[in-house]
Amino acid sequence: MNAQPTPAVLPVDLDAFWMPFTANRHFKANPRLLARAKGMYYWTADGREVLDGVAGLWCVNAGHCRAEIADAVAQQLNTMEFAPTFQMGHPIAFELASRLAQLAPPSMDRVFFTNSGSESVDTALKIALAYHRVRGAGQKTRFIGREKGYHGVGFGGMSVGGMVNNRKTFSTAMINGVDHLPHTLDIAHNAFSRGLPHWGAHLANELERLIALHDASNIAAVIVEPISGSAGVILPPVGYLKRLREICDKNDILLIFDEVITGFGRVGQPFAAQAFDVVPDLMTTAKGLTNGAIPMGAVFAKRKVYEAFMQGPESVIELFHGYTYSAHPAACAAALATLDIYAREGLLSRAATLSPVWEDAVHSLRGTAKVIDVRNYGLIAAVELEPRPGKPGTRAFDVFLKCFERGVMVRQTGDVIAMSPPLIIEPQHITRLVETLGEVIRGID
Ligand SMILES: Cc1ncc(COP(=O)(O)O)c(C=O)c1O
Repeated sequence: MNAQPTPAVLPVDLDAFWMPFTANRHFKANPRLLARAKGMYYWTADGREVLDGVAGLWCVNAGHCRAEIADAVAQQLNTMEFAPTFQMGHPIAFELASRLAQLAPPSMDRVFFTNSGSESVDTALKIALAYHRVRGAGQKTRFIGREKGYHGVGFGGMSVGGMVNNRKTFSTAMINGVDHLPHTLDIAHNAFSRGLPHWGAHLANELERLIALHDASNIAAVIVEPISGSAGVILPPVGYLKRLREICDKNDILLIFDEVITGFGRVGQPFAAQAFDVVPDLMTTAKGLTNGAIPMGAVFAKRKVYEAFMQGPESVIELFHGYTYSAHPAACAAALATLDIYAREGLLSRAATLSPVWEDAVHSLRGTAKVIDVRNYGLIAAVELEPRPGKPGTRAFDVFLKCFERGVMVRQTGDVIAMSPPLIIEPQHITRLVETLGEVIRGID
């Protein structure tokens, strides 16, 4: 890759920025500053090339610094930088919604815009509550999430989420009436599965137990990630999602798929709903929608959900919800340019084509000391390490740091190293990513 001179961007003072989901003191003592990006690579502030194994943060699906996106955003900002979407509209918001509806699974053709994954989740939860209420079933208010789920950091998403570190500090601030299904990670049964594991579909039946406990008349929705990313890549066992769908259908419960990371080609189809052939009622997205260039999220709703709201006097607002920046013109421009790139370069199906190469590469780490599992689907993979006794997470954190020193960016969560590269990745990048990771794991205590 070309190595242009890196501008001197070292900030004089790292103190003021309270960094999100970061060990601030450790980082500020050992900063890892990214200054420039192109294609598959970042360059650090001191000019080192770093291969991006995580698409930034699961979002830069078309690779970095796509000129088409930057140009579209610049043009939009020079034409109309902002327009309200409360009781007003602007054309590219409608154009984008129509384009998205065409990509979505059948009948999921109504789109509500947000600015992030967290906002998409909270929006979907509110739509679920309001949907039941407009149909005269306002007592259906309970939600069911899943252990180890991640649905962002809003109060709703945090409450249906299932990662203890995100919950424990805020335990009394959770929304009421939430239960959790068991997670589907089972290394004893499924270690080193290639693709979806075969053991565990029965775990979906736990939903029936929760329905028996609360009665379906009280339950609004079930929310799951088709593949959990943040908790360390947890795959749905074969048949599991279909079973959830069946149980929800039988009990008039909405099924929400949180596709913030699985959306936009990560699993070889536009959405995991298509890859797994299970259509939810609501689908939350963000990240790859704009290739990470401008913050934006979108909630897809089945037409029947939208239509349920379209009653009563026409001049009355049907859903009292929205954000100042819902369908922000710059974000719409970024998303349209992103969708053009995805279409032109076939990126929404590329993960399916590359996945055998990806799978073979990551599973070559099987047998490496300390590696207790390798999981993969589409262009996602996780390598799980045996934790150091009494020091969970430290081994994988050290692996993450060493990989970065060696010019490869991966993501650490607990004792898992997760990878989700830009969908433009080529086999030689896969080789470098996995070889570096393997060498680092072998060299770490
Ligand atoms: C499945 C899922 N839902 C929601 C979110 C939250 O998205 P954001 O950080 O854009 O709020 C994430 C972020 O990683 C996610 O993976």
